Amino acid sequence: MAINYSESTDSNLITRSAELPEDAGEGSLRPRYLSEYIGQEKAKDNLRIFIQAAKARKDSLDHVLLHGPPGLGKTTLAGVIANEMGVHMRITSGPTIEKPGDLAALLTNLQENDILFVDEIHRLNRTVEEILYPAMEDFAIDIIIGKGPSANSIRLDLPHFTLIGATTRSGQLTAPLRDRFGINLRLELYTPEELRRIVFRSAEILQVDIEPAGADEIARRSRGTPRIANRLLRRVRDFAQITSDGVITREVADKALTSLEVDHMGLDNLDRRMLRGIIEFYHGGPVGLDALAATINEEPVTLEDVYEPYLLQQGFLIRTRQGRCVTQKAYEHLGLEFRGQQQLSL
Ligand SMILES: Nc1ncnc2c1ncn2[C@@H]1O[C@H](COP(=O)(O)OP(=O)(O)OP(=O)(O)O)[C@@H](O)[C@H]1O
Ligand SMILES: [Mg+2]
Repeated sequence: MAINYSESTDSNLITRSAELPEDAGEGSLRPRYLSEYIGQEKAKDNLRIFIQAAKARKDSLDHVLLHGPPGLGKTTLAGVIANEMGVHMRITSGPTIEKPGDLAALLTNLQENDILFVDEIHRLNRTVEEILYPAMEDFAIDIIIGKGPSANSIRLDLPHFTLIGATTRSGQLTAPLRDRFGINLRLELYTPEELRRIVFRSAEILQVDIEPAGADEIARRSRGTPRIANRLLRRVRDFAQITSDGVITREVADKALTSLEVDHMGLDNLDRRMLRGIIEFYHGGPVGLDALAATINEEPVTLEDVYEPYLLQQGFLIRTRQGRCVTQKAYEHLGLEFRGQQQLSL
């Protein structure tokens, strides 16, 4: 029983099966089993063992926390876990569960060993979160019936289930919630080689002709992120179709990506605006996140979660106690003169 991410018309809190509305068009590219899931070898090695052990015991898998920047495959991996375990997955997200009753309804509707996937789990509100503690630990919830002095608390048993939480900001999870996850997996940015394999796989599914050098070009410019690799592949395919014979060569990929303003390191406009902002307004830094975000008119969260991980990994940016600083590499990349760095304490 493979989880199928087709477009959902169901806006209920509980999606009927594992369906995600945002997946229209992305769905067919999602790996469904560990063997198809490229990269993240450490996470996969661990998961294989935990899944095998849980299945041998005929038990539910321990609760799993998946964290890492957007587009690295957290939702995909949750679906993979469900498929490997051979169980149903219910999908919801932190902000959609408004009241404790919403969560209670979700939990009491689960079947034995089912997976409950909570996306953006750091955005659960506190009263809802408190229902989760006994649910995760003892597979039970306490429900208050009635009001005032005659109110009664009853304990309701739940089936053994697996909570999979996904978050881009594990630092915002409260300690009691974080501690209740038995398996904690951090997804890392992908290497160009892994992205190349992802591009090839996607090209095959989309029936696009691609040369190895074309795949390399897309992989190198995808900021370590499969979602971006797939998106660029689709756009480059359009260019190949209209401006040449439909085959993605290095030349076509380069032309297409350059017109999309993705430079040869994979940086887009906002990346460059961010680096330039630090150089022009703060002499290369250090600058605090909020000040920088205000300067370039972006949300601080977007900069921190979406943009910084790749810029840090590539060494364009460093974080110090006093704030963010660009490096000599960033000056050189932007074609600006580097006049030395201020003394920083790391
Ligand atoms: N390991 C992988 N191998 C192949 N394709 C992948 C892999 N990981 C992710 N993808 C592709 O990248 C896309 C984005 O993945 P996914 O939606 O799971 O990311 P996410 O981490 O949940 O992002 P967000 O934080 O925005 O929710 C998917 O459509 C999938 O096709
Ligand atoms: Mg997701």
